[in-house]
Amino acid sequence: MNQSVTHVVILAAGQGTRMKSQLPKVLHPVAGRPMLEHVLDAAAAVAPATVTVIVGHGGAAVRERLAGRPGVTFALQEPQLGTAHALQQAEPVLAGKTGTVILLSGDVPLLKGGTLQKLLQTHLAASAAATVVTASVERPYGYGRVVRVDGQIARIVEERDASPGERQIREINSGIYAFDLPPLFDALRGIASQNAQGEFYLTDLVGIYRRRKLPVETLLVEAPEEIRGINSRTELAEVGTLVRQKKNEELMAAGVTLVDPATTYIDPRAEIGGDTVIHPGVVIEGPTRIGRACEIQAHVRIADAEIGDHVKINSFCVIVESRIASGAAIGPFAHLRPASAVGEGAKIGNFVELKKTSLGAGSKVNHLAYLGDATVGDHVNVGAGTITCNYDGEKKHQTIIGDGAFIGSDSQLVAPVTVGKGAYVAAGSSITQDVPDGALGIARARQNNIEGWVERKKTVTQKG
Ligand code: UD1
Ligand code: CA
Repeated sequence: MNQSVTHVVILAAGQGTRMKSQLPKVLHPVAGRPMLEHVLDAAAAVAPATVTVIVGHGGAAVRERLAGRPGVTFALQEPQLGTAHALQQAEPVLAGKTGTVILLSGDVPLLKGGTLQKLLQTHLAASAAATVVTASVERPYGYGRVVRVDGQIARIVEERDASPGERQIREINSGIYAFDLPPLFDALRGIASQNAQGEFYLTDLVGIYRRRKLPVETLLVEAPEEIRGINSRTELAEVGTLVRQKKNEELMAAGVTLVDPATTYIDPRAEIGGDTVIHPGVVIEGPTRIGRACEIQAHVRIADAEIGDHVKINSFCVIVESRIASGAAIGPFAHLRPASAVGEGAKIGNFVELKKTSLGAGSKVNHLAYLGDATVGDHVNVGAGTITCNYDGEKKHQTIIGDGAFIGSDSQLVAPVTVGKGAYVAAGSSITQDVPDGALGIARARQNNIEGWVERKKTVTQKG
């Protein structure tokens, strides 16, 4: 294989009319990330010298979304006159260069990097002017069809321009190609727009090259799902299902139990240890890590979290950007908001909310509590109904609770405040001053019992 420089161009300017969306099609998420990002990841496999994304519809939003990705050049296509016209917008970036252009569509997110490497190899080995990635599918509807003459690709005809006979063809154009740079931009200028959509079709290049006797190759992919294009919300959902199924199968093969894979939603970036059991309706988002032998009960959402081994998450919990150490138990109905950390063997019970709060090993917050901006030591018991009053209307303040402390039920800890090690807070207290180590803090009205009050009340009622 001769060494040659590779450039990538990704078409992402189309409106995506069939999506009926304000959001540019290529920014619709597949498996939690914009489909265009999946395409960019695949493109990295051919180590491109340049990556150009053609933007148009919603171009500002696309640029903004990709702002964090280095090495991406944008070219504007305005107006959008078709896929050939879109590729022409990359000419200023690629003019005068030699090598290969790998052309991708921003709406084909399942494409694998390995397929692009194969495409490049096939293209270079054949010294082709163009190589088209094709697939043989059961339902070719909507795709361009590959018309072969004597086994050789002769041209590509779009669905809307195809004759009834051509519509029977099952070999489709994936919209993914390799092009030899030198003849490309000159040939693109020869494409006309006499077709059903009045657009400049890139697919016409195949016929043009064949007439010029330039060699055109094809690469048939074995798994056609990989090149599925997304044009509608239905296809978006179908592709989402394919991604999920693949992830679920990988996890099950690695020893994770999914009680009902059909209703389990796990981000492809998530990692889950063996013997963990995941019940129906669980949603795991982002690069979440879950250890071994955990149990995640039904209808739990976990996003960007880190969870140790032997953790039990009971039903209906929401856990976001938080860490849970091994052996802890959470929920049901608990809410761990960002930057919370639960220590080893700790227990968070029902209707407990944590925010920017860390809880030490073996500590317990069993019922109905809000802990925000708090640092709680080891083996602390936080009673039912405890609230950290962390906000004074302007600023957030910290609450610190030392190791072994006991916070009686229905207490308010008015921050900033510290409860010392081993200290007790009496139930029903409104704590506004620090409680020293080992002390009892009691801050509530003293009880007054009025003897014989009930009898006297009865007598009054009877007379009246
Ligand atoms: C295209 C191919 C078709 C192929 C299919 C594979 C053409 C004419 N047809 O059809 O043969 O089977 O992809 O998925 O190429 N785009 C622009 N500017 C434009 C028009 C489109 O950037 O002016 C971009 C779109 O944003 C999209 C890609 O090009 O990312 C493909 O366009 P789309 O309209 O989806 O083409 P298809 O009808 O799917
Ligand atoms: Ca498409």
